[in-house]
Amino acid sequence: MSILIDPHKVPKRTLATGDEIPCIGMGTFGSDRYTPEQVSKAVAGAIRVGYRLFDCAAVYGNEDRIGKVFAEAINQGVVKREELFITTKVWNDMHGKGDVLLSCSKSLRDLRLDYVDAFFMHWPFPNYHAPGCDGDTRNPNSKPFCKEEFMSVWRQMERLVDMGLTRCLGMSNMTIPKLEAVLHLCRIKPSLIEMELHPCFQQTELFAYCMDKNIQPVGFCPIGSPSRPDRDKTDNDAVDTEAPAVVELAEKHGVHPALICLKWAVQRGQIPIPFAAGEDKYAANLKCVTEDPLSEEEMEILKDVDANCRLIKGQVFLWPGAKSWEELWDMNETGRRIYTERGNINPSLST
Ligand SMILES: NC(=O)c1ccc[n+]([C@@H]2O[C@H](COP(=O)([O-])OP(=O)(O)OC[C@H]3O[C@@H](n4cnc5c(N)ncnc54)[C@H](OP(=O)(O)O)[C@@H]3O)[C@@H](O)[C@H]2O)c1
Repeated sequence: MSILIDPHKVPKRTLATGDEIPCIGMGTFGSDRYTPEQVSKAVAGAIRVGYRLFDCAAVYGNEDRIGKVFAEAINQGVVKREELFITTKVWNDMHGKGDVLLSCSKSLRDLRLDYVDAFFMHWPFPNYHAPGCDGDTRNPNSKPFCKEEFMSVWRQMERLVDMGLTRCLGMSNMTIPKLEAVLHLCRIKPSLIEMELHPCFQQTELFAYCMDKNIQPVGFCPIGSPSRPDRDKTDNDAVDTEAPAVVELAEKHGVHPALICLKWAVQRGQIPIPFAAGEDKYAANLKCVTEDPLSEEEMEILKDVDANCRLIKGQVFLWPGAKSWEELWDMNETGRRIYTERGNINPSLST
């Protein structure tokens, strides 16, 4: 017998637009390991279990399958469209003039929807790699972040709101310097920002910056993405589910360490979007945020788990001449911030 969680018992957050969004959702990236069939089967099961938020993207290559699942669930009366919060993202190879509308239209067609609840810019530059590539892959056409190019994509995204194709907008994989460069130029501000967030990578400064600006953080890789593609693995990566404090709290609460990561995420204020292919896991992930919260003291303990360990380094997006993946995140190799004067990031200006 499946676990069923009443969606009304899952806390909601209110975005700057006034739209409500569940405090946890399900990711749909198969990490180059799970097929579109496996991911869409998990989405179908997750709707029945009680999930209402799904994080999709054109580049995940499974929106047509997931759209079939949404249509079936809506047609069979399992869920109403307005009860779902569905997001998608424009991939980096669709940043050209007119391309964003094409990308959104294709995603809507594939997802079998009239609108999405949030439309994200997946990465803040047009650099892209072939699906399934390895970590040494470089695209010679890759370029550093450029404020003007970013804004030309954002202007196209603002039109999607005007056209009623999305209710709100989101950015992803941003940094404070990049946000400082573009936020004041946005006619429609982002309501959501997707960033890597897990106990070993808490991004305290960026998180606080977004909260201060009323931009809701959405945390990807909330369990530390144990099944992430090999190109995103290095020998020194921290393992959230093996961090002693996480393991200790898991034993105390009688749950898997993954669930401590998710409780922490929700109680801290971000929206985690874990993926799991198996029903036992995705059901437990949703259930855990409806019961047995962490105490304030336990939340304090988890602050110290932060190891500043970014897992999705994005090195495949580096441009010719870039020294290391840190430059993608406006840091130099020693981890110090590269400053910008509200403009294009200049890697030579580091302090
Ligand atoms: N905006 C972006 O650039 C970006 C980047 C990355 C990800 N994302 C989004 O974030 C979502 C989540 O990230 P992710 O899938 O990489 O990482 P994740 O959610 O941290 O990790 C997913 C993996 O954790 C394991 N897991 C899940 N629930 C578990 C449980 N209850 N107990 C034990 N293990 C559990 C599963 O491993 P097994 O498969 O081994 O069971 C699953 O594949 C993606 O699906 C995608 O939607 C966005």
